Amino acid sequence: MDEFKVTPWEVSGKVDYNKLIERFGTKKIDQALLERMRRLTKDLHPYLTRQVFFSHRDLDVVLKKYEDGEKFFLYTGRGPSGGMHMGHLVPLMFTKWLQEKFKVDLYIQITDDEKFLMRDLSLEETHRLAYDNIADIIALGFDPKRTHIFVNTEYAKTLYKIAIKVARNITTSTNKAVFGFTDSSNMGISFFPAMQMAPCFLPKELGKGDMQCLVPAAIDQDDYWRPARDVAAKMGCPKPAQIHSKFFPSLLGMDAKMSSSDPRSSIFLTDTPEEVKKKVMRYAFSGGRDTVEEQRKLGADLEKDISYQWMRFFEEDDRKLKRIGDDYSSGKMLTGEIKTILADRLNAFLKSHQKARGKAKGRTEKFMLRD
Ligand code: TYM
Repeated sequence: MDEFKVTPWEVSGKVDYNKLIERFGTKKIDQALLERMRRLTKDLHPYLTRQVFFSHRDLDVVLKKYEDGEKFFLYTGRGPSGGMHMGHLVPLMFTKWLQEKFKVDLYIQITDDEKFLMRDLSLEETHRLAYDNIADIIALGFDPKRTHIFVNTEYAKTLYKIAIKVARNITTSTNKAVFGFTDSSNMGISFFPAMQMAPCFLPKELGKGDMQCLVPAAIDQDDYWRPARDVAAKMGCPKPAQIHSKFFPSLLGMDAKMSSSDPRSSIFLTDTPEEVKKKVMRYAFSGGRDTVEEQRKLGADLEKDISYQWMRFFEEDDRKLKRIGDDYSSGKMLTGEIKTILADRLNAFLKSHQKARGKAKGRTEKFMLRD
């Protein structure tokens, strides 16, 4: 029995990513695939070289088609259950890179319906959060010409038609087996997976042909894509492809993902510089030694050290990251120093993000898909 769990609604225990590849029947992103990607994109995003994006389905098929002159489209999303945290940016920032490299359309689904059905939130609240989150997404700098954002309860006229076609081809028994629904789950959430699968087939509904879909997301969303692939032929589309990321860890340690439900575990995009500094100094789990003498002699354990692990997500310069890793693991650097480097890095990012977010608010309509 595995001691960890990864579902769209719960991630617990220490995740073994190799086991997940087996469990979900995906493929590891190997060196050959990376080289193939590099030939098309010229350089590789650090999330690829550092194996943050580690697993896929049919990425090779998508690249082959692209080499042969056939376009694909990107699809990702966000469930507006609260303010966004740094972990949510991982798939989005990588998606932006893919979009820039391949110059393809991107669809972003905001599932206000899901969060209304799953959380103790009113529809008004999930709707408000949807637009709050959209401002954060736009602030990342997506190209308005190629980026199409929609909120489920508003875009239902188009989505519902696709979702019922998906749902007709999935039995209740499969739905229960994949998502763990029970007799006490509410009826709405049992239908919801069809709404999240629907955008895999959206361009077809919009009369743009049967382009292949590529979904960049963390691996917690994988339950949706297996049944989506099973129904693809019936939808007249190629099976949607995926590229999966690992989880950005909690501040409190490597055994949990960053999650909005424990504010101590997360840095939110709206945190002030003081809050960031306080949280990092107080909570970031340290792989350093108990005393300065021991740290100087033995050095830190980088695998366990959250400040270092977070720098792997946010320091793009490989040489700088290596220098920090070498100094800290050899004992030349102390925990307080790496924490200061991290807090400064996060605050520099948040300062420009918060400014961009303010400007994004007035530009929302440029991105919205309406029906
Ligand atoms: P949500 O809002 O839980 O998460 C949004 C995206 O962030 C990823 N994610 C993380 N990535 C790295 N580290 C973490 N700690 C972390 N926590 C969350 C998720 O995998 C996701 O990519 N139902 C979905 C919304 C959705 C969606 C989609 C997501 C609708 N369609 C298509 C991805 C692709 C949700 O509630 O995501």
